[in-house]
Amino acid sequence: MLRKYTQLNQSILTRKANSSFFSKSNKVWATKRKHLSAAFYKDKINQILRGAVVIANKRVKLWLRLIEEGEPVVNLNKEMNDLIDDVVQICVFGQSSLKKSLVFKKNGQETVVSLGRFIRLLSEKIFSRFASLFRLFTNIFDYAALNKQEREDFDNAKYLREFTKGLIDERRKEMEKPDFQSQGDFLTLILQDSYFQDDKDIIDEVMGFMTASNVTTSIAMTNIIFYLTKSQESFRKVREEFRSVLKVEKSVTALTDLQWADLLSYENLNMCNYLIYCINETMRIDPSSRLSTNHVFTEKITIGGISILPETDWHINFYYLQNNPKEWIQPEQFIPERFDPQSPYYLTPAGKKRSTFSFGPFFGGRRICLGKTFAENLMRCLVQVIVNQIDFEFEDKELEKRKPINSMLQDEPCFKFRLKRYKQN
Ligand code: HEM
Repeated sequence: MLRKYTQLNQSILTRKANSSFFSKSNKVWATKRKHLSAAFYKDKINQILRGAVVIANKRVKLWLRLIEEGEPVVNLNKEMNDLIDDVVQICVFGQSSLKKSLVFKKNGQETVVSLGRFIRLLSEKIFSRFASLFRLFTNIFDYAALNKQEREDFDNAKYLREFTKGLIDERRKEMEKPDFQSQGDFLTLILQDSYFQDDKDIIDEVMGFMTASNVTTSIAMTNIIFYLTKSQESFRKVREEFRSVLKVEKSVTALTDLQWADLLSYENLNMCNYLIYCINETMRIDPSSRLSTNHVFTEKITIGGISILPETDWHINFYYLQNNPKEWIQPEQFIPERFDPQSPYYLTPAGKKRSTFSFGPFFGGRRICLGKTFAENLMRCLVQVIVNQIDFEFEDKELEKRKPINSMLQDEPCFKFRLKRYKQN
């Protein structure tokens, strides 16, 4: 049996964090997961997608303005970070609490950053702190800051908890009003669920969701646009499929937010196979998380002749599995067709069926990503709104030759892109 490694869970949020993301795979975790899953029922996802369309269109309008004003060069990573920040805040906090700026402490300086950026910076610090040899062999100092930098990390983590607590208190007040209407968001759902009584647990869950959802999705979105820009043929096919499968006859500039939302429903997005192949291929070649978090076996087990003791922690290397040349034909190439059962690329180089374990950007089994279906549909929806209105070009020509790693726990690269208005023929 598998479960998460406890030390990671302890060192992550400056207290014994109980969020389902970090906790052991026990009965309490399973019950919590069941309650939290309610946030992702199909009708909820459809409701969130409608909100996502409005936010994506707002961002597209902003880009069109930049183009008109002659300032069309952007850092794609930052743009996607801001976009996903807005969308995830709707899902997690509900529209009325859209708050973005936080103050991050680093090397004695305070910088105002978005929630997504804050989480990316803090996660990097916390995970690398945990990964040091010293921390791996002892947990005595899990709650102690050993130097100035660690003190800052603790302050940042504490500040994020207080920020989250503030959102919870605000929402409780709103919920007391007789005219309060739920946006179907995660925070309201958890506050209305009598299973979650303790505020500390609620803060843990909200922070767990923020950590799990924001950075992963914005990295994936940046990477999708990157690979589509590099593979113009795939870009063209995504647009063609949008018109033919969703039967879009008129110019998209004539579509209202409401019409976009009707068009990009959960059901319709599921019919856009080629787009799905492109998203899968991006997450194969360049997963948002290259490694899983730490897991352990609860009993002694022998795998491939190697005996593994209980409580020994290990990671799954998604990146290796998804780029294994024995399982994937030309793994270094972006070939969306490898997810099409009709394509020869669907098979291994030896012509066999691929192992199901060779593709798992959302992990698998009992600990599979809770937000998988939501994230997949969200990305399908956002990509459609964006690529059918905007053309992208590499401003930094080096990017055409080499893509710097853009993944969790790595320094965030700056991807300079030139935006252009997409004119349909
Ligand atoms: C492209 C976007 C995403 C990717 C690639 C992704 C990937 C993953 C992976 C690999 C795990 C397993 C981590 C491990 O155990 O080592 C995971 C867990 C999780 N993810 Fe996601 N995720 C994404 C988006 C989201 C979103 C949008 C949400 C919520 C709104 C979310 C919520 C969670 C939660 C709660 C867990 C913990 C589940 C559990 O252990 O029971 N994720 N995700």
